[in-house]
Amino acid sequence: MYLDDAALDGGERMSMRVRRPGVRDGYDAWSTTYDETPNPLVALDRRYTMRLLEPRPSERILDAGCGTGAYLRLILLAGSSPFGLDFSRGMLRVARRRLPSVPLAQANLDDPLPVRGWVFDAVLCALVGEHLENVSLLFREFSASLVAGGRLIFSVFHPEMAAAGIEANFEREGVEYRLGARRYSVDDYVDAVDRSGFRGLRVHEFCGDAALADEIPWAAKYLSRPLLLTVEARKT
Ligand SMILES: C[S@@+](CC[C@H](N)C(=O)[O-])C[C@H]1O[C@@H](n2cnc3c(N)ncnc32)[C@H](O)[C@@H]1O
Repeated sequence: MYLDDAALDGGERMSMRVRRPGVRDGYDAWSTTYDETPNPLVALDRRYTMRLLEPRPSERILDAGCGTGAYLRLILLAGSSPFGLDFSRGMLRVARRRLPSVPLAQANLDDPLPVRGWVFDAVLCALVGEHLENVSLLFREFSASLVAGGRLIFSVFHPEMAAAGIEANFEREGVEYRLGARRYSVDDYVDAVDRSGFRGLRVHEFCGDAALADEIPWAAKYLSRPLLLTVEARKT
């Protein structure tokens, strides 16, 4: 879920305890219920990001920050060969159970990627960026792992939301767990891609809309507010 305090009514806010477990421990804890948690950002991302990725048969596609494997599954269904990385053992456990044939590895995207010897036709990195310390390293590593002309599809929680103090969170047994969101700007992401050996950048900003509010009624407060940023590019 991505919420701000305004999502909770006064009574709930008063009684809810808040914990900040850190990003990795937070996703480990969230992993068992992540796929069932109504989440406007994820819903919007699901609407656009696969369309941008357009996986083709036989392509090798890296899903960096693959979580529970929602995109790994769709990539596999398209006849491509996915490879998933994530640093949360809990999220990887769910992905492995769901997709036993897909290669997965535990990796911190703030470090050099453990994919030397692999080369990919496309890299997807969906809804991870605001958790990362070093996005410049990330895009350089993506560039190094792509074939010439290979595609990058990057989607992220819109910086305006993070700037408004909204962050990834979930609730369990009267406790709200907050996972944090770094305050990057749109330009921080776009410039880092641009400096990392990519060309043909296309940037899109997607706002909450009526269809999203139909799907998740409390997301009506995001009507016309930018929720999702995507950057597409090709390796030079
Ligand atoms: C919001 S989930 C998105 C998962 C998936 N991409 C999706 O669209 O469902 C964010 C994921 O990023 C992972 N993550 C966050 N920081 C990370 C890091 N530094 N290195 C690797 N994975 C990270 C989390 O473990 C989690 O699985």
